[in-house]
Amino acid sequence: MLDSYGRNIDYMRISITDRCNLRCQYCTPEDLPSIGHAEILRFEEILDIARYAVSLGITKFKITGGEPLVRKGYLFFLERLKTLPGVEQVTLTTNGVLLEDALPDLVRIGIDGVNISLDTQNPETFSRITRRDDFHKVWSAFLACQASGIRTKINTVLLKGINDMEFADLCLLAKNYCCDVRFIEIMPIGYGKGFQGYDRSMLLPLLRDLHPSLEESTTFHGNGPATYVSIPDFQGSIGFIDAIHGKFCSQCNRIRLTSDGMLKLCLYYKNSLDLKTLIRNQASESEVIQAMKDAIFHKPQEHQFHHNATEGIEELKKMSQIGG
Ligand code: 5AD
Ligand code: SF4
Repeated sequence: MLDSYGRNIDYMRISITDRCNLRCQYCTPEDLPSIGHAEILRFEEILDIARYAVSLGITKFKITGGEPLVRKGYLFFLERLKTLPGVEQVTLTTNGVLLEDALPDLVRIGIDGVNISLDTQNPETFSRITRRDDFHKVWSAFLACQASGIRTKINTVLLKGINDMEFADLCLLAKNYCCDVRFIEIMPIGYGKGFQGYDRSMLLPLLRDLHPSLEESTTFHGNGPATYVSIPDFQGSIGFIDAIHGKFCSQCNRIRLTSDGMLKLCLYYKNSLDLKTLIRNQASESEVIQAMKDAIFHKPQEHQFHHNATEGIEELKKMSQIGG
């Protein structure tokens, strides 16, 4: 459906859990308390919300966490979502730790793609960033994805002094494998505030030095805010997601459902719709749909990262609770 700024909202990110089996320094402290089970939407509730969303024209869904594969029963949920009438695309964002074992079933139910979060190809740097020694599991899952032919993207957060020296090598993944590699600018949200990152304008010149024949792509890949460049001899593209500096709010097509049932209209904006309370208070289907429709119509024009420092906009949720 169109919002009040004429943007076509057709994509929903659904976080099915705030829990994660990694502890990335820019995302989660070692001991982040989890949301209580009763506060987390049941899969049945999420499927109802997805059905209502479809009736409003939202046909593409990305399942996120925390780490979605740590939630029990995710396969049954994904399969139901995938077969919901009107659903055109279901993709998954994962840290990859549990992905290799999950992959055959994901392929069987026809998942439309996976995004693997991987910030480094160095096992020690991986442990430093994530506080866990799981690099080899993620790498082996990535190779399994390649072998299975599932559409795969790598998402990397490049951090000054931590993994930025790997930029050139990370780009080469898109040459050596059939995958896009996207560099996500670190967002000053929660623990991300303690790190310095890179945006497209800083990385593109470096990439051009390495690959002078690169071409900036004009076609859109997928649903996201990424802009891409293609390089001769590369199988995949290199993408940049600039949350802060390349504000893409005017083309934003997405809304988010948090694991505790809040419909967030914008990643960084405090207003959201408490769908869980509505649903659990026995609101009728048409009342819930109407509330969603009103909320989406009034999706904010743009995010408020910039206001944060000066106006102290309350930060209600950390990244692991929103799902990126
Ligand atoms: N800024 C940018 N990206 C982040 N992620 C987690 N926290 C942040 C942040 N503060 C990324 C993860 C993963 C995706 C779901 O979000 O690295 O790729
Ligand atoms: Fe887990 Fe992703 Fe946060 Fe890392 S960034 S701790 S993988 S939710």
